[in-house]
Amino acid sequence: MDKIDEILYGFISSLGYKPALDMFEKISSGKKLRSKLILKIAGQNEQSVRLCAVVELIHLASLLHDDVIDDSLLRRGKPSINSLFGTKNAIMLGDILYSKGFNEIVKFDMKIADIISDAVCKLSIGELMDVELGASFNDDQEKYLKMIYLKTAVLIEASAKAAASLVNLDEEKYAKYGKNLGLAFQIVDDILDITGTADSLGKPAMNDFKEGKTTLPYMFLYEKLNKEDKETLKSMFKKELNKEQIAWIKAKFDEYDIIKNSISLAKDYGNKAINSVCNDDLKQIVSNMIDRDF
Ligand code: FPP
Ligand code: MG
Repeated sequence: MDKIDEILYGFISSLGYKPALDMFEKISSGKKLRSKLILKIAGQNEQSVRLCAVVELIHLASLLHDDVIDDSLLRRGKPSINSLFGTKNAIMLGDILYSKGFNEIVKFDMKIADIISDAVCKLSIGELMDVELGASFNDDQEKYLKMIYLKTAVLIEASAKAAASLVNLDEEKYAKYGKNLGLAFQIVDDILDITGTADSLGKPAMNDFKEGKTTLPYMFLYEKLNKEDKETLKSMFKKELNKEQIAWIKAKFDEYDIIKNSISLAKDYGNKAINSVCNDDLKQIVSNMIDRDF
């Protein structure tokens, strides 16, 4: 992972503009799930490591823009780039990372460039859909699943598919693994927003609903509530909640086993991922994501 960080730094440094590099250095490094996947599938070689760097660059660019869109002041427990340098700089740094990512991806085989660039179009549509769904309380689970597929799972799917393509493995099988892993990942993330603490999350807890995201646990809960409680839940949408309101939501989550049912859906996607490949390392990635304390 350090080697990937080194390549990323080299990519931005090669652009020869210090203010961009200074801002880039303030981005906190993540877990690099997409890179781990690429290396487990394609092995470690010059091409696979460079593919990791390109995918991470695109992912970082998307997070810079996402933090502007979501007005997020924290990313991975540290001040976001928009909070440090303002939204204009965060958008432009995102543009630089994204364009450099494309400049590097065209140096790969056309097929790899096609897989990755197609994923970026879809991921951008996913973000647009996320914003659109945030306009009002959403109880359409199908729309939500489509949105998280586009916003989150697509780039994980493309990483697995491109890695398989690099080493002539069955692309569709690995794409299926990546897609289901990505869906499980986003559902786990949605659950952790509710069960986690600001410290463990590196961002405020119970923040999704306030941000306008009716995530899966909220949709599951809405389905179970009576008419009056449905209205109470809806009245809390996109609001800064007080302690009593948070306690009310959490008690309802407990009453209807919502967290357990949400974990169970994440596990279903995890199992689908596992069933499409017979590789112990890839099974381990799924299990690290899902078999945890919530
Ligand atoms: C995080 O979602 C956001 C994404 C996974 C995708 C963001 C995509 C874009 C902004 C469009 C693509 C842009 C470029 C430059 C390639 P979240 O807000 O639910 O999660 P969070 O809590 O980590 O912010
Ligand atoms: Mg966000």
